[in-house]
Formats: sequence, C-alpha cells, structure tokens
Amino acid sequence: MDIVDKNILMINGSTREGGNTDRILTGMIKGIKDREVMQAVLRDMEIGNCIGCAKCRDESACSQNDDMTGLRRSIEKSDILIFASPVYWCEITGLMKTFIDRLYFYHHTNNAHLVSGKKGLVVSPLGETNVFYETEILVSFYNRLFYSLGIELIDMQFYPGLMEKDDLKKYPEMFAKAKNSGESLLNIH
Ligand SMILES: Cc1cc2nc3c(=O)[nH]c(=O)nc-3n(C[C@H](O)[C@H](O)[C@H](O)COP(=O)(O)O)c2cc1C
Repeated sequence: MDIVDKNILMINGSTREGGNTDRILTGMIKGIKDREVMQAVLRDMEIGNCIGCAKCRDESACSQNDDMTGLRRSIEKSDILIFASPVYWCEITGLMKTFIDRLYFYHHTNNAHLVSGKKGLVVSPLGETNVFYETEILVSFYNRLFYSLGIELIDMQFYPGLMEKDDLKKYPEMFAKAKNSGESLLNIH
C-alpha cells in the first residue's frame, strides 16, 4: 500500500498550547502536505486514568466510556501513529502516560490485532542538550511499549535545547527537520 492510502494520527501529549511540541507537529503537518492528518490533543480531551479493573484483560472491553472510546476508533483506522510528548523527568508527560496506560485494552488477544502491524513514530522536544542521558529511560520505555503492542517503531526524534515555550522559533533548522520528517512519511511503505 502506498502512503497516499495511509492514515496518520498524531497523539499530542504536551501540556502547553502553542509550545514546542505543537510547533513541531505543525512542521510535520506542513511536510505531509495536503494530506489529512488526525491530531488528538490530549490536554483538550477527557481521558481518565486506567483504574486497573482488568475488564479489558478479562473481557476485552474497557469499563470507562470517555474520549478514549473515540480515540481508539481513530487509532484503529490509522496506519501510522505519532506519539508526541515533551520529555518530562526523563520520560513523558502525565497526559501521555495516562493515554498509554489505557492502551492496555490492546493487550487482550481479542484486541491485539487492532493495533499490531501499525507503524509508530516518537517525537520529543526536551530542555537539555545531552540527548543520550536525558532520553535513555524514554528510549527503553518506548521500545518495550511498541514491542508489547506489536507496533513497528520507525523512528524516535528528539529536539534538544527547547526549554521555553517559544524556543522552537529560535531554531528554524528544527522546524525544517520536523517538516522533512513529515515529508519522509510520504515515502514509507
Ligand atoms: C515537569 C517538567 C519536567 C521536565 N523534565 C525534563 C527532563 O527530564 N529533561 C529535559 O531535557 N527537559 C525536561 N523538561 C523540559 C521540557 O521537555 C521542555 O520545556 C519542552 O520543550 C516542553 O515542550 P512543550 O513546549 O511542548 O511544553 C521538563 C519540563 C517540565 C515542565
């Protein structure tokens, strides 16, 4: 299947409207050109914490009916999932973690096929510049997560040195990197 037939879903786990994550995703959307991209902005959604009731594990259904219900439909329709979150404490924001916890739904054998085989991309701005040190835990975490979900991790992209909300504006080369990355999604088969 060619990329023109593919659906792309961006999951935006940033807490700051108009911050670096938002701008990076805007760059990627520009790169993807006129193709329709779905974006789930988690800070604008009602997604409750996984309550560990194990209904998904036992009955392959979720006990909660919130915005995750619709988001699961978008996930299942997508071919490429972009997980975008700033680095918070060497990892991800609470918003992104809450969303990821709810992906436990796909751990059930009845549901696993709904995500397995999709492609995944990780996008993370961070304030510090020592990328290896700051993202070591994050990289292990995402590798385990994607492996467990059967999603093929195609890339992890880090945008270092972006501490303040408007910092991306200072680095047009980073916006260009985001745009190129969006463009390169057009070549994924
Ligand atoms: C609670 C919190 C924790 C953070 N932890 C880290 C960290 O561990 N390493 C790092 O490099 N930057 C860290 N940062 C900086 C953010 O990654 C950085 O400001 C990022 O650009 C925020 O993205 P945004 O503009 O989309 O909100 C942290 C910021 C906050 C608010």
